[in-house]
Amino acid sequence: MDKLSAFLEREHGVFIGGDWVPGRDRFETRNPATGEVLTEVVQADQSLVDQAVDAARAAQPVWANQTPAARSRVLYRLAELVAQHRDELALLETLDNGKPLRESKGGDVPLAAEHFRYYAGWPTKFGGQTNPVSVPGMLNYTLREPVGVVAAIVPWNFPLLIAAWKVAPALAMGNAVILKPAEQTPLTALRLAELAREAGLPDGVLNVVTGDGRTGAALVAHRHVDKVSFTGSTEVGRRIVAGSVANLKRVSLELGGKSANVIFADANLRKAVRGVMMGVFYNQGQVCVAGSRVLVERSIHDQVAELLAAEVEKVRLGDGRDESTTMGPLVSAEQRDRVAGFVRQGREQGARLVAGAEVMDGPGYFFRPGLLATEDASNVCVREEIFGPVAVLMPFDSEEQAVEMANDSEYGLAGGVYTENLGRAHRVAAGIRTGTVWVNTYNAFDAASPFGGYKQSGWGREMGEQALDLYTETKSVWINTK
Ligand code: NAI
Ligand code: MG
Repeated sequence: MDKLSAFLEREHGVFIGGDWVPGRDRFETRNPATGEVLTEVVQADQSLVDQAVDAARAAQPVWANQTPAARSRVLYRLAELVAQHRDELALLETLDNGKPLRESKGGDVPLAAEHFRYYAGWPTKFGGQTNPVSVPGMLNYTLREPVGVVAAIVPWNFPLLIAAWKVAPALAMGNAVILKPAEQTPLTALRLAELAREAGLPDGVLNVVTGDGRTGAALVAHRHVDKVSFTGSTEVGRRIVAGSVANLKRVSLELGGKSANVIFADANLRKAVRGVMMGVFYNQGQVCVAGSRVLVERSIHDQVAELLAAEVEKVRLGDGRDESTTMGPLVSAEQRDRVAGFVRQGREQGARLVAGAEVMDGPGYFFRPGLLATEDASNVCVREEIFGPVAVLMPFDSEEQAVEMANDSEYGLAGGVYTENLGRAHRVAAGIRTGTVWVNTYNAFDAASPFGGYKQSGWGREMGEQALDLYTETKSVWINTK
Protein backbone atom coordinates (compact mmCIF):
# COMPACT_ATOMS: atom_id res chain seq x y z
CA MET A 1 0.00 0.00 0.00
CA ASP A 2 2.89 2.39 0.76
CA LYS A 3 4.36 1.87 -2.68
CA LEU A 4 0.92 2.51 -4.10
CA SER A 5 0.43 5.74 -2.14
CA ALA A 6 3.82 6.90 -3.34
CA PHE A 7 2.76 6.17 -6.91
CA LEU A 8 -0.54 8.01 -6.49
CA GLU A 9 1.13 11.02 -4.90
CA ARG A 10 3.56 11.53 -7.76
CA GLU A 11 3.18 14.30 -10.27
CA HIS A 12 2.48 12.05 -13.24
CA GLY A 13 3.92 12.71 -16.65
CA VAL A 14 3.49 10.83 -19.87
CA PHE A 15 6.01 8.10 -20.68
CA ILE A 16 8.00 8.93 -23.80
CA GLY A 17 11.35 7.52 -24.87
CA GLY A 18 11.85 5.84 -21.51
CA ASP A 19 11.33 9.02 -19.48
CA TRP A 20 8.51 10.83 -17.73
CA VAL A 21 7.64 13.99 -19.62
CA PRO A 22 5.50 16.63 -17.89
CA GLY A 23 2.46 18.17 -19.53
CA ARG A 24 0.74 21.49 -18.97
CA ASP A 25 -2.90 20.37 -19.06
CA ARG A 26 -3.98 17.84 -16.45
CA PHE A 27 -7.15 16.07 -15.39
CA GLU A 28 -8.33 14.07 -12.39
CA THR A 29 -9.00 10.38 -12.13
CA ARG A 30 -11.44 9.27 -9.44
CA ASN A 31 -12.24 6.22 -7.35
CA PRO A 32 -15.76 5.32 -8.54
CA ALA A 33 -16.58 3.64 -5.21
CA THR A 34 -16.20 6.92 -3.32
CA GLY A 35 -16.07 9.66 -5.92
CA GLU A 36 -12.74 10.76 -4.43
CA VAL A 37 -9.91 12.06 -6.58
CA LEU A 38 -7.06 9.53 -6.77
CA THR A 39 -4.57 11.65 -8.65
CA GLU A 40 -4.10 13.86 -11.70
CA VAL A 41 -2.62 12.84 -15.02
CA VAL A 42 -1.57 14.68 -18.16
CA GLN A 43 -3.98 15.52 -20.96
CA ALA A 44 -1.49 14.90 -23.77
CA ASP A 45 -1.75 17.48 -26.54
CA GLN A 46 -0.56 17.37 -30.15
CA SER A 47 3.01 18.22 -29.26
CA LEU A 48 3.29 15.36 -26.73
CA VAL A 49 1.67 13.01 -29.22
CA ASP A 50 4.24 14.12 -31.82
CA GLN A 51 7.06 13.49 -29.35
CA ALA A 52 5.72 10.03 -28.54
CA VAL A 53 5.42 9.15 -32.22
CA ASP A 54 8.96 10.40 -32.90
CA ALA A 55 10.33 8.35 -30.01
CA ALA A 56 8.50 5.27 -31.23
CA ARG A 57 9.71 5.74 -34.82
CA ALA A 58 13.31 6.08 -33.68
CA ALA A 59 13.16 3.05 -31.38
CA GLN A 60 11.21 0.65 -33.57
CA PRO A 61 14.04 -0.50 -35.92
CA VAL A 62 16.35 -1.01 -32.94
CA TRP A 63 13.79 -3.30 -31.33
CA ALA A 64 12.91 -5.09 -34.55
CA ASN A 65 16.60 -5.80 -35.19
CA GLN A 66 17.07 -7.51 -31.86
CA THR A 67 17.08 -11.28 -32.29
CA PRO A 68 13.74 -13.02 -31.81
CA ALA A 69 15.22 -14.74 -28.76
CA ALA A 70 16.19 -11.40 -27.24
CA ARG A 71 12.69 -9.97 -27.75
CA SER A 72 11.24 -13.12 -26.30
CA ARG A 73 13.35 -12.80 -23.13
CA VAL A 74 12.26 -9.21 -22.54
CA LEU A 75 8.59 -10.18 -22.86
CA TYR A 76 9.03 -13.13 -20.48
CA ARG A 77 10.61 -10.79 -17.95
CA LEU A 78 7.73 -8.36 -18.36
CA ALA A 79 5.23 -11.20 -17.84
CA GLU A 80 7.00 -12.15 -14.61
CA LEU A 81 7.11 -8.55 -13.41
CA VAL A 82 3.38 -8.12 -14.01
CA ALA A 83 2.75 -11.36 -12.11
CA GLN A 84 5.07 -10.32 -9.25
CA HIS A 85 3.28 -6.98 -8.92
CA ARG A 86 -0.14 -8.58 -8.94
CA ASP A 87 -1.34 -7.19 -5.62
CA GLU A 88 -0.22 -3.66 -6.37
CA LEU A 89 -1.59 -3.61 -9.94
CA ALA A 90 -4.87 -5.21 -8.86
CA LEU A 91 -5.43 -2.65 -6.14
CA LEU A 92 -4.57 0.17 -8.52
CA GLU A 93 -7.06 -1.21 -11.05
CA THR A 94 -9.76 -1.58 -8.40
CA LEU A 95 -9.22 1.97 -7.15
CA ASP A 96 -9.32 3.41 -10.67
CA ASN A 97 -12.10 1.29 -12.19
CA GLY A 98 -14.14 0.13 -9.18
CA LYS A 99 -14.13 -3.59 -10.04
CA PRO A 100 -13.99 -6.04 -7.11
CA LEU A 101 -10.46 -6.84 -5.99
CA ARG A 102 -11.26 -10.54 -6.33
CA GLU A 103 -11.72 -9.91 -10.07
CA SER A 104 -8.71 -7.65 -10.61
CA LYS A 105 -6.51 -9.99 -8.55
CA GLY A 106 -7.96 -13.25 -9.83
CA GLY A 107 -8.69 -12.13 -13.41
CA ASP A 108 -7.34 -8.93 -14.94
CA VAL A 109 -3.77 -8.95 -13.65
CA PRO A 110 -2.89 -12.65 -13.90
CA LEU A 111 -4.52 -12.79 -17.34
CA ALA A 112 -2.47 -9.78 -18.44
CA ALA A 113 0.69 -11.53 -17.24
CA GLU A 114 -0.42 -14.65 -19.13
CA HIS A 115 -0.78 -12.63 -22.32
CA PHE A 116 2.78 -11.35 -22.11
CA ARG A 117 3.94 -14.91 -21.39
CA TYR A 118 1.99 -16.35 -24.32
CA TYR A 119 3.25 -13.77 -26.84
CA ALA A 120 6.78 -13.99 -25.41
CA GLY A 121 6.89 -17.45 -27.00
CA TRP A 122 6.02 -16.27 -30.50
CA PRO A 123 9.06 -14.30 -31.76
CA THR A 124 11.06 -17.52 -32.06
CA LYS A 125 8.23 -19.41 -33.76
CA PHE A 126 6.45 -17.10 -36.15
CA GLY A 127 7.89 -16.56 -39.62
CA GLY A 128 7.24 -16.64 -43.33
CA GLN A 129 7.32 -19.65 -45.64
CA THR A 130 8.67 -20.75 -49.00
CA ASN A 131 6.02 -20.82 -51.70
CA PRO A 132 5.82 -23.46 -54.45
CA VAL A 133 5.78 -20.97 -57.35
CA SER A 134 5.76 -22.22 -60.96
CA VAL A 135 7.95 -19.53 -62.53
CA PRO A 136 11.06 -21.40 -63.78
CA GLY A 137 14.24 -20.63 -61.88
CA MET A 138 12.56 -18.59 -59.18
CA LEU A 139 12.71 -19.03 -55.46
CA ASN A 140 9.90 -17.26 -53.60
CA TYR A 141 9.50 -16.83 -49.90
CA THR A 142 7.64 -14.58 -47.50
CA LEU A 143 8.95 -12.51 -44.62
CA ARG A 144 6.75 -11.35 -41.77
CA GLU A 145 7.82 -7.85 -40.84
CA PRO A 146 6.55 -5.48 -38.15
CA VAL A 147 3.98 -2.89 -39.25
CA GLY A 148 6.01 -0.17 -37.51
CA VAL A 149 4.47 2.26 -35.04
CA VAL A 150 1.26 1.06 -33.41
CA ALA A 151 -1.20 3.22 -31.48
CA ALA A 152 -3.11 1.10 -28.96
CA ILE A 153 -6.25 2.89 -27.76
CA VAL A 154 -7.95 1.07 -24.92
CA PRO A 155 -11.16 1.44 -22.89
CA TRP A 156 -11.76 1.61 -19.15
CA ASN A 157 -13.49 -1.73 -18.50
CA PHE A 158 -10.34 -3.93 -18.45
CA PRO A 159 -7.61 -1.31 -18.59
CA LEU A 160 -4.50 -3.42 -18.04
CA LEU A 161 -5.81 -6.61 -19.64
CA ILE A 162 -6.94 -5.01 -22.91
CA ALA A 163 -3.66 -3.08 -23.02
CA ALA A 164 -1.88 -6.46 -22.79
CA TRP A 165 -4.04 -7.87 -25.62
CA LYS A 166 -2.54 -5.22 -27.88
CA VAL A 167 0.89 -4.42 -26.48
CA ALA A 168 2.07 -8.05 -26.10
CA PRO A 169 1.60 -9.21 -29.73
CA ALA A 170 2.68 -5.83 -31.11
CA LEU A 171 5.96 -5.93 -29.20
CA ALA A 172 6.51 -9.61 -29.93
CA MET A 173 6.43 -8.86 -33.65
CA GLY A 174 8.95 -6.00 -33.38
CA ASN A 175 6.68 -2.97 -33.42
CA ALA A 176 6.92 0.12 -31.23
CA VAL A 177 3.77 1.08 -29.37
CA ILE A 178 2.08 4.21 -28.11
CA LEU A 179 -0.49 3.12 -25.55
CA LYS A 180 -3.36 5.49 -24.78
CA PRO A 181 -5.41 4.36 -21.80
CA ALA A 182 -8.97 5.59 -21.27
CA GLU A 183 -9.31 8.87 -19.42
CA GLN A 184 -11.35 7.15 -16.67
CA THR A 185 -8.61 4.58 -15.91
CA PRO A 186 -5.11 5.76 -16.84
CA LEU A 187 -3.12 4.41 -13.89
CA THR A 188 -2.16 0.79 -14.58
CA ALA A 189 -0.89 1.76 -18.05
CA LEU A 190 1.53 4.20 -16.46
CA ARG A 191 2.76 1.50 -14.09
CA LEU A 192 3.08 -0.98 -16.97
CA ALA A 193 5.44 1.45 -18.73
CA GLU A 194 7.78 1.36 -15.75
CA LEU A 195 7.67 -2.41 -15.53
CA ALA A 196 8.49 -2.66 -19.24
CA ARG A 197 11.54 -0.49 -18.71
CA GLU A 198 12.56 -2.67 -15.77
CA ALA A 199 12.14 -5.74 -17.99
CA GLY A 200 14.75 -4.33 -20.36
CA LEU A 201 12.53 -3.03 -23.14
CA PRO A 202 14.59 -0.39 -24.98
CA ASP A 203 13.55 3.23 -24.46
CA GLY A 204 10.89 4.43 -26.87
CA VAL A 205 9.54 0.96 -27.73
CA LEU A 206 6.58 1.38 -25.36
CA ASN A 207 5.28 4.90 -24.77
CA VAL A 208 2.21 5.81 -22.76
CA VAL A 209 0.26 8.99 -23.37
CA THR A 210 -2.71 9.80 -21.16
CA GLY A 211 -5.61 11.92 -22.31
CA ASP A 212 -9.17 11.74 -23.54
CA GLY A 213 -10.59 11.24 -27.03
CA ARG A 214 -8.65 14.22 -28.38
CA THR A 215 -5.37 12.47 -27.63
CA GLY A 216 -6.74 9.33 -29.28
CA ALA A 217 -7.88 11.27 -32.33
CA ALA A 218 -4.42 12.89 -32.67
CA LEU A 219 -2.84 9.43 -32.76
CA VAL A 220 -5.38 8.19 -35.27
CA ALA A 221 -4.76 11.13 -37.61
CA HIS A 222 -0.98 10.99 -37.27
CA ARG A 223 0.83 10.30 -40.56
CA HIS A 224 3.68 8.50 -38.82
CA VAL A 225 1.45 6.05 -37.00
CA ASP A 226 1.23 2.90 -39.12
CA LYS A 227 -1.54 1.11 -37.29
CA VAL A 228 -4.30 1.76 -34.79
CA SER A 229 -5.60 -1.02 -32.58
CA PHE A 230 -8.77 0.13 -30.85
CA THR A 231 -11.21 -1.28 -28.31
CA GLY A 232 -14.24 0.77 -27.35
CA SER A 233 -17.58 1.96 -28.60
CA THR A 234 -18.83 1.35 -32.14
CA GLU A 235 -19.45 5.07 -32.47
CA VAL A 236 -15.78 5.91 -31.85
CA GLY A 237 -14.76 2.93 -34.00
CA ARG A 238 -16.49 4.62 -36.94
CA ARG A 239 -14.67 7.88 -36.18
CA ILE A 240 -11.38 6.00 -36.11
CA VAL A 241 -11.99 4.53 -39.55
CA ALA A 242 -12.81 8.01 -40.87
CA GLY A 243 -9.83 9.58 -39.09
CA SER A 244 -7.34 7.05 -40.40
CA VAL A 245 -7.82 7.64 -44.12
CA ALA A 246 -5.07 10.25 -44.65
CA ASN A 247 -2.28 7.65 -44.64
CA LEU A 248 -4.54 4.59 -44.93
CA LYS A 249 -3.05 3.16 -41.76
CA ARG A 250 -3.99 -0.33 -40.69
CA VAL A 251 -6.95 -0.42 -38.32
CA SER A 252 -8.28 -3.17 -36.11
CA LEU A 253 -11.38 -2.69 -34.00
CA GLU A 254 -13.01 -4.48 -31.07
CA LEU A 255 -16.33 -2.72 -30.65
CA GLY A 256 -19.66 -3.08 -28.95
CA GLY A 257 -21.95 -6.03 -28.65
CA LYS A 258 -25.45 -7.11 -27.72
CA SER A 259 -24.81 -10.77 -27.21
CA ALA A 260 -27.47 -13.40 -26.61
CA ASN A 261 -27.57 -16.15 -24.02
CA VAL A 262 -29.86 -18.82 -25.51
CA ILE A 263 -31.36 -21.24 -23.00
CA PHE A 264 -33.22 -24.29 -24.27
CA ALA A 265 -35.74 -26.25 -22.19
CA ASP A 266 -33.36 -29.23 -22.29
CA ALA A 267 -30.53 -27.22 -20.67
CA ASN A 268 -28.85 -27.95 -17.38
CA LEU A 269 -30.34 -24.94 -15.61
CA ARG A 270 -27.60 -24.77 -13.00
CA LYS A 271 -25.06 -24.24 -15.77
CA ALA A 272 -27.38 -21.86 -17.60
CA VAL A 273 -28.00 -19.66 -14.57
CA ARG A 274 -24.30 -19.59 -13.72
CA GLY A 275 -23.46 -18.74 -17.34
CA VAL A 276 -26.00 -15.94 -17.54
CA MET A 277 -24.98 -14.44 -14.19
CA MET A 278 -21.34 -14.50 -15.26
CA GLY A 279 -22.18 -13.39 -18.78
CA VAL A 280 -24.30 -10.40 -17.84
CA PHE A 281 -22.98 -9.19 -14.52
CA TYR A 282 -19.24 -9.78 -14.51
CA ASN A 283 -17.39 -6.47 -14.19
CA GLN A 284 -20.70 -4.72 -13.40
CA GLY A 285 -21.90 -5.67 -16.88
CA GLN A 286 -19.33 -3.33 -18.40
CA VAL A 287 -18.12 -5.98 -20.81
CA CYS A 288 -18.21 -5.92 -24.59
CA VAL A 289 -19.32 -9.58 -24.71
CA ALA A 290 -22.02 -9.10 -22.05
CA GLY A 291 -24.73 -11.66 -22.81
CA SER A 292 -27.39 -9.13 -22.03
CA ARG A 293 -30.18 -10.62 -24.13
CA VAL A 294 -31.37 -13.75 -22.34
CA LEU A 295 -33.45 -15.78 -24.79
CA VAL A 296 -35.35 -18.54 -23.03
CA GLU A 297 -37.53 -21.32 -24.44
CA ARG A 298 -41.07 -20.36 -23.49
CA SER A 299 -41.84 -23.44 -21.38
CA ILE A 300 -39.10 -22.54 -18.88
CA HIS A 301 -39.10 -18.75 -19.29
CA ASP A 302 -40.81 -17.90 -15.99
CA GLN A 303 -38.82 -20.48 -14.06
CA VAL A 304 -35.54 -19.06 -15.42
CA ALA A 305 -36.71 -15.53 -14.61
CA GLU A 306 -37.32 -16.57 -11.00
CA LEU A 307 -33.97 -18.36 -10.68
CA LEU A 308 -32.13 -15.34 -12.08
CA ALA A 309 -34.05 -12.89 -9.91
CA ALA A 310 -33.02 -14.91 -6.84
CA GLU A 311 -29.37 -14.80 -7.94
CA VAL A 312 -29.53 -11.07 -8.61
CA GLU A 313 -30.78 -10.54 -5.05
CA LYS A 314 -27.64 -12.27 -3.76
CA VAL A 315 -25.24 -9.85 -5.46
CA ARG A 316 -23.24 -7.91 -2.88
CA LEU A 317 -22.70 -4.35 -4.03
CA GLY A 318 -19.86 -2.52 -2.39
CA ASP A 319 -16.40 -1.05 -2.49
CA GLY A 320 -14.23 -3.34 -4.60
CA ARG A 321 -11.56 -3.39 -1.89
CA ASP A 322 -13.95 -5.24 0.44
CA GLU A 323 -13.31 -8.98 -0.06
CA SER A 324 -17.03 -9.80 0.27
CA THR A 325 -18.02 -7.46 -2.58
CA THR A 326 -19.23 -9.29 -5.68
CA MET A 327 -20.19 -6.17 -7.63
CA GLY A 328 -18.51 -2.77 -7.53
CA PRO A 329 -19.71 0.62 -8.73
CA LEU A 330 -19.99 1.60 -12.38
CA VAL A 331 -16.94 3.38 -13.70
CA SER A 332 -18.35 6.93 -13.62
CA ALA A 333 -21.42 8.95 -12.78
CA GLU A 334 -21.88 9.39 -16.52
CA GLN A 335 -21.93 5.63 -17.12
CA ARG A 336 -24.35 5.07 -14.21
CA ASP A 337 -26.72 7.69 -15.59
CA ARG A 338 -26.45 6.24 -19.07
CA VAL A 339 -27.41 2.78 -17.78
CA ALA A 340 -30.29 4.21 -15.74
CA GLY A 341 -31.45 6.08 -18.84
CA PHE A 342 -31.64 2.89 -20.89
CA VAL A 343 -33.67 1.16 -18.16
CA ARG A 344 -36.08 4.10 -17.89
CA GLN A 345 -36.57 4.25 -21.64
CA GLY A 346 -36.94 0.47 -21.91
CA ARG A 347 -39.66 0.47 -19.28
CA GLU A 348 -41.44 3.38 -20.95
CA GLN A 349 -41.44 1.27 -24.10
CA GLY A 350 -43.19 -1.53 -22.22
CA ALA A 351 -40.48 -3.78 -20.77
CA ARG A 352 -41.50 -5.33 -17.45
CA LEU A 353 -39.19 -5.00 -14.44
CA VAL A 354 -38.37 -8.44 -13.01
CA ALA A 355 -35.74 -7.43 -10.45
CA GLY A 356 -33.45 -4.63 -9.27
CA ALA A 357 -32.16 -2.11 -11.82
CA GLU A 358 -32.00 1.08 -9.83
CA VAL A 359 -29.52 3.82 -9.02
CA MET A 360 -28.20 3.65 -5.45
CA ASP A 361 -27.60 6.71 -3.34
CA GLY A 362 -24.01 7.98 -3.35
CA PRO A 363 -21.23 8.38 -2.63
CA GLY A 364 -19.95 6.21 -5.42
CA TYR A 365 -21.59 5.32 -8.70
CA PHE A 366 -23.50 2.24 -7.64
CA PHE A 367 -26.30 0.67 -9.64
CA ARG A 368 -28.32 -2.30 -8.42
CA PRO A 369 -28.17 -5.13 -11.00
CA GLY A 370 -31.45 -5.78 -12.73
CA LEU A 371 -33.58 -7.87 -15.04
CA LEU A 372 -36.22 -6.77 -17.51
CA ALA A 373 -38.56 -8.88 -19.65
CA THR A 374 -40.19 -8.15 -22.99
CA GLU A 375 -41.37 -9.77 -26.22
CA ASP A 376 -40.79 -6.59 -28.21
CA ALA A 377 -37.64 -6.92 -30.31
CA SER A 378 -37.61 -3.19 -30.96
CA ASN A 379 -37.29 -2.26 -27.27
CA VAL A 380 -34.24 -0.08 -26.67
CA CYS A 381 -32.94 -2.50 -24.03
CA VAL A 382 -33.02 -5.29 -26.63
CA ARG A 383 -31.26 -3.25 -29.31
CA GLU A 384 -28.68 -1.06 -27.56
CA GLU A 385 -25.51 -1.99 -25.72
CA ILE A 386 -26.34 -0.95 -22.15
CA PHE A 387 -22.85 -1.63 -20.77
CA GLY A 388 -24.12 -2.06 -17.26
CA PRO A 389 -25.60 -4.80 -15.05
CA VAL A 390 -28.93 -5.13 -16.83
CA ALA A 391 -30.28 -8.10 -18.77
CA VAL A 392 -33.48 -8.43 -20.75
CA LEU A 393 -35.34 -11.75 -20.92
CA MET A 394 -37.24 -12.79 -24.05
CA PRO A 395 -39.14 -16.02 -24.76
CA PHE A 396 -38.73 -18.13 -27.93
CA ASP A 397 -40.67 -21.10 -29.30
CA SER A 398 -38.28 -23.03 -31.54
CA GLU A 399 -34.60 -23.56 -32.25
CA GLU A 400 -34.94 -21.77 -35.56
CA GLN A 401 -36.56 -18.76 -33.94
CA ALA A 402 -33.90 -18.70 -31.21
CA VAL A 403 -31.11 -18.48 -33.79
CA GLU A 404 -33.01 -15.81 -35.72
CA MET A 405 -33.50 -13.75 -32.57
CA ALA A 406 -29.87 -14.16 -31.52
CA ASN A 407 -28.82 -12.85 -34.95
CA ASP A 408 -31.29 -9.96 -34.90
CA SER A 409 -28.63 -7.41 -33.96
CA GLU A 410 -26.27 -5.09 -35.78
CA TYR A 411 -23.55 -6.51 -33.52
CA GLY A 412 -21.85 -9.90 -33.71
CA LEU A 413 -19.43 -10.26 -30.86
CA ALA A 414 -20.40 -13.31 -28.82
CA GLY A 415 -23.17 -15.57 -27.62
CA GLY A 416 -23.99 -18.38 -25.22
CA VAL A 417 -25.97 -21.59 -25.84
CA TYR A 418 -27.30 -23.82 -23.09
CA THR A 419 -28.54 -27.26 -24.07
CA GLU A 420 -27.78 -30.89 -23.22
CA ASN A 421 -28.50 -31.91 -26.82
CA LEU A 422 -25.16 -32.37 -28.59
CA GLY A 423 -26.45 -31.92 -32.11
CA ARG A 424 -28.35 -28.79 -31.15
CA ALA A 425 -25.28 -27.34 -29.43
CA HIS A 426 -23.27 -27.63 -32.66
CA ARG A 427 -26.13 -26.45 -34.88
CA VAL A 428 -26.80 -23.34 -32.84
CA ALA A 429 -23.07 -22.60 -32.37
CA ALA A 430 -22.75 -22.68 -36.16
CA GLY A 431 -25.92 -20.63 -36.69
CA ILE A 432 -25.03 -17.69 -34.47
CA ARG A 433 -23.12 -15.06 -36.45
CA THR A 434 -20.64 -13.90 -33.82
CA GLY A 435 -16.88 -14.12 -33.27
CA THR A 436 -17.24 -16.28 -30.17
CA VAL A 437 -19.86 -18.81 -29.08
CA TRP A 438 -19.80 -20.45 -25.66
CA VAL A 439 -21.74 -23.66 -24.99
CA ASN A 440 -22.92 -24.33 -21.42
CA THR A 441 -20.52 -21.66 -20.16
CA TYR A 442 -19.75 -17.99 -20.71
CA ASN A 443 -16.74 -15.65 -20.60
CA ALA A 444 -14.11 -18.34 -21.10
CA PHE A 445 -11.03 -16.56 -22.47
CA ASP A 446 -7.49 -17.65 -23.17
CA ALA A 447 -4.51 -16.01 -24.81
CA ALA A 448 -4.42 -18.92 -27.29
CA SER A 449 -8.01 -18.43 -28.55
CA PRO A 450 -8.81 -15.73 -31.12
CA PHE A 451 -11.34 -13.07 -30.17
CA GLY A 452 -13.18 -10.46 -32.22
CA GLY A 453 -16.41 -9.47 -33.86
CA TYR A 454 -18.62 -10.11 -36.86
CA LYS A 455 -20.75 -7.29 -38.27
CA GLN A 456 -20.50 -3.98 -36.41
CA SER A 457 -18.59 -5.54 -33.53
CA GLY A 458 -15.29 -4.95 -35.24
CA TRP A 459 -12.47 -5.77 -37.63
CA GLY A 460 -9.81 -8.37 -37.03
CA ARG A 461 -9.05 -10.93 -34.34
CA GLU A 462 -7.03 -10.37 -31.23
CA MET A 463 -5.38 -13.09 -29.16
CA GLY A 464 -4.11 -16.40 -30.40
CA GLU A 465 -1.89 -16.74 -33.43
CA GLN A 466 -4.39 -14.59 -35.39
CA ALA A 467 -3.34 -11.46 -33.50
CA LEU A 468 0.12 -11.72 -35.06
CA ASP A 469 -1.46 -10.92 -38.44
CA LEU A 470 -2.62 -7.59 -37.03
CA TYR A 471 0.92 -6.55 -36.18
CA THR A 472 2.83 -7.79 -39.24
CA GLU A 473 3.08 -7.11 -42.94
CA THR A 474 3.80 -9.96 -45.35
CA LYS A 475 6.60 -9.41 -47.83
CA SER A 476 7.01 -11.69 -50.84
CA VAL A 477 10.65 -12.02 -51.96
CA TRP A 478 11.57 -13.36 -55.44
CA ILE A 479 15.07 -14.67 -56.14
CA ASN A 480 16.22 -15.40 -59.66
CA THR A 481 18.40 -18.43 -59.14
CA LYS A 482 19.55 -18.72 -62.75
P1 NAI B 1 -15.21 5.35 -26.03
O1 NAI B 1 -15.31 4.46 -27.20
O2 NAI B 1 -15.46 6.81 -26.21
O3 NAI B 1 -13.75 5.21 -25.36
C1 NAI B 1 -12.81 4.19 -25.61
C2 NAI B 1 -11.43 4.79 -25.87
O4 NAI B 1 -11.46 5.57 -27.04
C3 NAI B 1 -10.93 5.72 -24.77
O5 NAI B 1 -9.53 5.53 -24.61
C4 NAI B 1 -11.22 7.10 -25.35
O6 NAI B 1 -10.38 8.12 -24.84
C5 NAI B 1 -10.92 6.87 -26.80
N1 NAI B 1 -11.56 7.81 -27.74
C6 NAI B 1 -12.72 8.50 -27.58
N2 NAI B 1 -12.97 9.25 -28.68
C7 NAI B 1 -11.96 9.02 -29.54
C8 NAI B 1 -11.65 9.48 -30.86
N3 NAI B 1 -12.46 10.32 -31.50
N4 NAI B 1 -10.54 9.03 -31.46
C9 NAI B 1 -9.72 8.15 -30.83
N5 NAI B 1 -9.94 7.68 -29.60
C10 NAI B 1 -11.05 8.11 -28.96
O7 NAI B 1 -16.17 4.79 -24.91
P2 NAI B 1 -16.85 5.61 -23.69
O8 NAI B 1 -17.28 6.95 -24.15
O9 NAI B 1 -15.96 5.55 -22.54
O10 NAI B 1 -18.12 4.71 -23.41
C11 NAI B 1 -19.35 4.91 -24.11
C12 NAI B 1 -19.99 3.59 -24.43
O11 NAI B 1 -19.14 2.88 -25.31
C13 NAI B 1 -20.20 2.65 -23.27
O12 NAI B 1 -21.37 2.91 -22.59
C14 NAI B 1 -20.23 1.33 -23.96
O13 NAI B 1 -21.51 1.09 -24.49
C15 NAI B 1 -19.26 1.49 -25.09
N6 NAI B 1 -17.94 0.91 -24.76
C16 NAI B 1 -17.66 -0.31 -25.23
C17 NAI B 1 -16.48 -0.92 -24.91
C18 NAI B 1 -16.18 -2.28 -25.39
O14 NAI B 1 -15.29 -2.93 -24.87
N7 NAI B 1 -16.86 -2.76 -26.40
C19 NAI B 1 -15.49 -0.30 -24.02
C20 NAI B 1 -15.87 1.05 -23.62
C21 NAI B 1 -17.06 1.59 -23.98
MG1 MG C 1 -16.57 8.49 -25.34
